[in-house]
Amino acid sequence: MKVLVVGGGGREHAIIKKIKENRNVTDIFALPGNGGIAKDATCVNIAAKDIKQIVKFASEQKIDFAVVAPDDPLVLGAVDSLNEIGIPCFGPDKKAAIIEGSKVFSKNLMKKYNIPTADYESFNNKEDALKYLETCEIPVVIKADGLALGKGVIIAQTLEQAQEAVVSIMEDKVFGDSGNNIVIEEFLTGPEVSVLAFTDGKTLVPMVSSMDHKRAKDNDEGLNTGGMGTIAPNPYYTESIAAECMEKIFMPTLHAMKNEGRTFKGCLYFGLMLTPKGPKVIEYNCRFGDPETQVVLPLLESDLLDIMISTSNGTLNKDIVKFSDKSACCVVMSSDGYPQKYDTGFEITMPDDNMIYVAGAKLDGDKLLTSGGRVLGVSAIGDSLSDAIKNAYNKVDNVKFANAYYRKDIGQKALKAL
Ligand code: AMP
Ligand code: GLY
Repeated sequence: MKVLVVGGGGREHAIIKKIKENRNVTDIFALPGNGGIAKDATCVNIAAKDIKQIVKFASEQKIDFAVVAPDDPLVLGAVDSLNEIGIPCFGPDKKAAIIEGSKVFSKNLMKKYNIPTADYESFNNKEDALKYLETCEIPVVIKADGLALGKGVIIAQTLEQAQEAVVSIMEDKVFGDSGNNIVIEEFLTGPEVSVLAFTDGKTLVPMVSSMDHKRAKDNDEGLNTGGMGTIAPNPYYTESIAAECMEKIFMPTLHAMKNEGRTFKGCLYFGLMLTPKGPKVIEYNCRFGDPETQVVLPLLESDLLDIMISTSNGTLNKDIVKFSDKSACCVVMSSDGYPQKYDTGFEITMPDDNMIYVAGAKLDGDKLLTSGGRVLGVSAIGDSLSDAIKNAYNKVDNVKFANAYYRKDIGQKALKAL
């Protein structure tokens, strides 16, 4: 079986390593992949957003199954285009990917179907948004409607900051057309949980829960990043909260999408906040999270490719999805300075390890050089969360590159919660 994976980060590396375990797989192509992924798949220099070239390549190579991992190609309709030439895919079509592609859409969906989320209003012009702000409690949250590389959310601590955010998004267009519309919403508090779920549109099977660490510095200080580390399972996410989420959030979302003529297939990501008034949705993503995937997939005991195929042909059932009851931790090693300015091009040396997932590195001959902000994710599992954390940091000590930076406290908040 020939499998194509669109994307080229740590998440894609984790997906590819798991797909490799399937004995029917003969070839894996990564578009574009990266220098680390090149050990596990054939990397082809086609950008993840270049749908025309992706389809051409898939057709020429007679690909049997495609996995579209990042948000951009999903929102642009990569799955629709691949399906059109007869290639089954893991991932939602364009109509369903809007659940991540438009925050105005997802907020309106939640309101219409009574799915718990922060109170909000949406706006398509600056004047109304500014007027509305005068009535809001502070802090208040401003979100650009469209994709913004995970940066389109501003938590304003004063009215002035909120006004500045509206002007910079809607007038100065700091996030481009993503800011033509905005959502202004209530500030919620409570622990955050990420829950990824497999779905074929009818059945939904949640994966093990996880916790991201989005800020650049220890103690959740510093700038927001794509994610500096993760742990799984998330200790705040108890069995009773999981049952409540299934009943009040997950299944209602699945039914809502179906009812809107936007049946969702693939991985639906629920970003949740456990507020004093119960779990609420902070955001939906139409894909695997990064770096959540780097702790969730190591704990998956079943065959990933079989599950992915079942989401596309409507045969998913919970018996084919089994997770280990161990814990996992992923420490992201980045270039110092990320998410702002940083230098790259430094040689990476690391042990041969099946749970080191490369994100920002390129090959130079047989040397691996840093090439991005998030360079790699070092994951490990353990019988307990504290073992998993220890094992991950022990491995980190054996990964070397100049200018390396990582948080020292991944999992500490979760340990305190236990
Ligand atoms: P997002 O890009 O939607 O994942 O948002 C980034 C982060 O902003 C989330 O992980 C939360 O920590 C925070 N956030 C988003 N919406 C809210 C909200 N309504 N109240 C409090 N924090 C929020
Ligand atoms: N780690 C958050 C995300 O993938 O959006």
